[in-house]
Amino acid sequence: MAPSGVDMNTPSIARVYDFFLGGKDNFAVDRAVAEHAVRITPDGPQAAQANRAFLRRVVRLLAAEQGVNQFLDIGSGLPTQGNVHQVALRHDAQARVVYVDNDPIVLAHGRALLASEGTATVIQADIRSPEAILEHPEVRQFLDFDRPIGLLLFAILHHLSDDESPKAVASTLIEALPSGSYVAISHFRDPGQRHPDASRKAHEVERVFNQSLGTGRWRTDEEILSFVEGLEVLEPGLVPLAEWRPEPDETTPDQSDTYHTFIGLVARKP
Ligand SMILES: C[S@@+](CC[C@H](N)C(=O)[O-])C[C@H]1O[C@@H](n2cnc3c(N)ncnc32)[C@H](O)[C@@H]1O
Repeated sequence: MAPSGVDMNTPSIARVYDFFLGGKDNFAVDRAVAEHAVRITPDGPQAAQANRAFLRRVVRLLAAEQGVNQFLDIGSGLPTQGNVHQVALRHDAQARVVYVDNDPIVLAHGRALLASEGTATVIQADIRSPEAILEHPEVRQFLDFDRPIGLLLFAILHHLSDDESPKAVASTLIEALPSGSYVAISHFRDPGQRHPDASRKAHEVERVFNQSLGTGRWRTDEEILSFVEGLEVLEPGLVPLAEWRPEPDETTPDQSDTYHTFIGLVARKP
């Protein structure tokens, strides 16, 4: 049976993504969307895996090397392998994480995962109301806004349309962070004429996502970089996910369809 508030007949971003990652928390309606996208870009599941690997490398870097032990993970998705708090706790036993998602299924599964832990919590909120997230009592209880915070915006800003002002949303969140905080972003990208075939397929998947999920915007590098204006972008900059500080034992994936259309960055607030 579906948890309360979960609609099994309408596809959800969190559940489509869960299917791409090989998870079990999805319904036929979600699988239909994913399968449609995979017919256009067969390496969709690898893109989701590359995003999770990027997330793990970023959290490891922040927790192990930059001394950041508190994270605000917005659009956190369903629990999967190597969740943020699990990666962070490996490097810092004091780590704290607040997961935020607007899909009720994430709240249901997240609460079950975290029931016994006390180091992380999950709240249901919408990134389009960033002030409500910043003022949420659990955010205030878990995170100390006088110490650096890792703001994690993995695969979420591309679910905001231009009308929903992703730049203003990101700015409001970044404004609330103390100096020395970090922001990580992964985002669907339109590579344009640099990779015309990938760009054409990105536009096709964009249509599928918008028809079925009502969201999905593949942005240019300039648009994505504008979200962290005024911050110091860490090396190697805004790059395909697999190129962002790969571990020595990681194999570089083939540069197939989604390689150039899903990219990421980490930036530091001075
Ligand atoms: C593709 S998943 C990414 C999950 C995780 N951040 C990752 O990168 O592995 C996007 C998540 O954002 C959530 N989401 C979409 N729109 C949202 C919104 N307006 N506010 C909060 N969460 C949202 C979805 O429910 C979904 O769980």
